[in-house]
Amino acid sequence: MNKKSKEKLPVLANTWLNEKHFVLTLQLPSGYPEIVPGQFVELLVEGSPDTFLRRPISVHDVDAEKLTLDMMVKIVGAGTAKLAKLKAGDTVDVVYPLGHGFSLARAGEKVLLAGGGCGVAPMLYLSRMLKRLGADCYVAIGGKTSADILRPEVYTNLAQVAILTEDGSLGDKGMITAHRWFGEELTQFSKVYCCGPEPMMKAIGKLASEKGVHCEVSLENMMACGIGSCLCCTVSTHEGNVRACMEGPVFEVNELKDWNHNPVCHG
Ligand SMILES: Cc1cc2nc3c(=O)[nH]c(=O)nc-3n(C[C@H](O)[C@H](O)[C@H](O)COP(=O)(O)OP(=O)(O)OC[C@H]3O[C@@H](n4cnc5c(N)ncnc54)[C@H](O)[C@@H]3O)c2cc1C
Ligand code: FES
Repeated sequence: MNKKSKEKLPVLANTWLNEKHFVLTLQLPSGYPEIVPGQFVELLVEGSPDTFLRRPISVHDVDAEKLTLDMMVKIVGAGTAKLAKLKAGDTVDVVYPLGHGFSLARAGEKVLLAGGGCGVAPMLYLSRMLKRLGADCYVAIGGKTSADILRPEVYTNLAQVAILTEDGSLGDKGMITAHRWFGEELTQFSKVYCCGPEPMMKAIGKLASEKGVHCEVSLENMMACGIGSCLCCTVSTHEGNVRACMEGPVFEVNELKDWNHNPVCHG
């Protein structure tokens, strides 16, 4: 397991994507611990008595030259609303990197990355690393409506991109699984990586399992400590119960109990 750090990192920018989503850019110290795609950080929400526990947020991107760490955040409650107010010059107390990230791929492998809504967050750093390794990346981004399709332009030089919205307001109309990459073309991929709403991940996991394609999903279970102590993030696997914050959040879908038979997808 890679080294963890707890430190106050300066905020370089807080960039709004739309009224519910923002990207927080932090300055990393030189010699920062190695960060693997799919890992997450725990952010302390300061000055907010309602949000005593740290909030887990995925690593969206890392720039090793500029020493920056980006997180893409959706405002859902008091903690994320408070984080949304951070601005350049503030600091934020971060524990990072946490959890077990995605497995990577070799040069020439054709891989499919699927992100639903803000679940697309870890896919940027993942596609950057995969591209560096020489893999051939395809990124599918799904959402209910155009407001759920976040930063599709950042993949321009990294991957082929497909966008699907349930209401047809951006890209093709339909759920993410309606795209041909999840249909007759699925077996062309050696791996599928997935993060988003649980029904979406279950639907993609089921399709991949049926076709014998390796599929990894990133779970967003409720977490408290983020470091394996409180057991509030337990996940049921065929090997017994494990902690999403330590053994996950990324799991191979066939490791998970009851994950191969939910055909409903809410992209
Ligand atoms: C490993 C991991 C990675 C994550 N990555 C991201 C990310 O990159 N970007 C992002 O915006 N969010 C991410 N989340 C979800 C994020 O942690 C929660 O949205 C956040 O903690 C909510 O805090 P809050 O105080 O704003 O809301 P709360 O007041 O705590 O909750 C508001 C509502 O959100 C629901 N909620 C709270 N936590 C979660 C959760 N973990 N999953 C689903 N629903 C939740 C609550 O049930 C409640 O309905 C991640 C979660 C995990 C476990
Ligand atoms: S969040 Fe405490 S054990 Fe996982």
